[in-house]
Amino acid sequence: MKKHVLLTPGPTPVPPQVLLSMAQPIIHHRTPQFEEIFAQMSENLKYLFQTRNDVITFASSGTGAMEASVVNLLSPGDKAICVQGGKFGERWAELCRAYGVEAVIIDVEWGDAVSAEEIERVLNKHPDAKVVFTTLSETSTGVATDVKAIGAMMNNKPAVLVTDAISGLGGMELKTDEWGVDVVVSGSQKGLMIPPGLAFCSISPKAWELVEKARCPRYYFDFRKAKKNLDKNTTAFTPAITLCIGLNEALKMIREETLEKAIARHARLAEAVRGAIQAIGLELFAKKPANVVTAVKSPENIDSGKIVKMMRDDYGISIAGGQGDAKGKIFRIAQLGYMNEFDILTGLSCLEIVLARLGYKFEMGKAIGFAETKFQETSS
Ligand SMILES: Cc1ncc(COP(=O)(O)O)c(C=O)c1O
Repeated sequence: MKKHVLLTPGPTPVPPQVLLSMAQPIIHHRTPQFEEIFAQMSENLKYLFQTRNDVITFASSGTGAMEASVVNLLSPGDKAICVQGGKFGERWAELCRAYGVEAVIIDVEWGDAVSAEEIERVLNKHPDAKVVFTTLSETSTGVATDVKAIGAMMNNKPAVLVTDAISGLGGMELKTDEWGVDVVVSGSQKGLMIPPGLAFCSISPKAWELVEKARCPRYYFDFRKAKKNLDKNTTAFTPAITLCIGLNEALKMIREETLEKAIARHARLAEAVRGAIQAIGLELFAKKPANVVTAVKSPENIDSGKIVKMMRDDYGISIAGGQGDAKGKIFRIAQLGYMNEFDILTGLSCLEIVLARLGYKFEMGKAIGFAETKFQETSS
């Protein structure tokens, strides 16, 4: 018998109470019943996003919210700075080009993080750039970006700061208003603990000024249309009703735990994983690791895809492999959303068994021992 354990950086496990809330018969969306759920959900999203600004919800995967940011803030021929240090940073530039926006690329080596100084240097060279696109947690490399420092640097600069927090939100600190992040983009299948299918954008007053001027074609993802409906606790088009009901439940769980404690839990799990990996002689891929996903260099002569496949096919435990140039070279273990110490211990234990089977030489039990000791020393 195989038990399935999801330790991937999206989708992530969905708590039973959230699953149960989504098992109820569907209700119609143009009703006071749904409007109340949507209002509660939208209000609790503000707590999660740490903002007083509206948070717009779309029925799409996270990329839909990224596309929404591009089309609502920019016009063809405009210039935008895109930080590109992994697969998801690259997506910002791809989206800009798709709409005729000139993408000024800041190329960051995979595994490394951009600095606020580097962005400032490029901004000074391109003072006409209207937007700076960044990624809080670059899921493909496991790197965290210092969005706080970037926000501070961009204070009083005309350009709008956009951050992709699709994998970071709920698991890493992101003080949207305090740090001056104009648009935060996220998705449902990661720290928000529900299945894929919802995407979100928080929008600052400074960003709204661009929305009014933007001329990129837009219809489904029009912020103005979404905002008009949000003000009436509804959506322009049929919402993903069931997912909204699930999200409402998941957000209540986050409020109950408190965001502060949820972030501390992710940090604690991530510290244990990082230490465990190093305890068996493996190296981290990220120079500035994010707390929601740990990217690990595969031992020499072992294709990381083999580790991922054996863990999944032989033991039912899903982790992620490398993407793009990192394919075969790294594997990624998530500490994201509805996960606790024992999910992590299960994953590390399976990793040790699989590494041993694949011929990697190390002292069995060292990874798990490190994590157990860490968990014993620090309370949850
Ligand atoms: C940081 C980041 N950005 C963007 C995306 C794309 O989101 P989606 O696959 O939901 O469109 C992901 C999903 O893996 C992500 O982790």
